[in-house]
Amino acid sequence: MLTDSARETINEVVASHKQMPGALLPILHGIQDAVGYIPAEAVDSIARELNLSRAEVHGVVTYYHHFRSEPAGKHVVQICRAEACQSMGSERLWAHACLHLDSDGHKPTKDGVFTVEPVYCLGLCASSPSMAIDGKVHARVSVEKFNTLVAQARSRA
Ligand code: FES
Repeated sequence: MLTDSARETINEVVASHKQMPGALLPILHGIQDAVGYIPAEAVDSIARELNLSRAEVHGVVTYYHHFRSEPAGKHVVQICRAEACQSMGSERLWAHACLHLDSDGHKPTKDGVFTVEPVYCLGLCASSPSMAIDGKVHARVSVEKFNTLVAQARSRA
């Protein structure tokens, strides 16, 4: 159930972007930045305001890995799985992250502390493999470095 504040924020984001060409993606980014995910209620509102079907909006939300359909854990761990990072072992890092945090690679962990997500380039290709925790990017991430970064985040939880 959305809070009144979240509902108001969603309405403001939709109202401030709906007249621009290609408004759907800026609206989705704006809502996720403000609320942390794209609530089902927001999908209804966006569809109505942009004269799209609910399925069209839902299709865009689920097409892009970036968008979440439910709230994230307290800390968001993003592992880059794009080509440059893959060539430097990011698939091993991804598997380790999912195993270490008991994550399915999208939904929050059972304790709600972490969400592990794939990303497709963090702009640190020359220093791959890369990851981000809560938006802060880290380069040349080994399994050991990952464990240290996650332990630091957990201690802040
Ligand atoms: S491919 Fe991973 S940071 Fe660019």
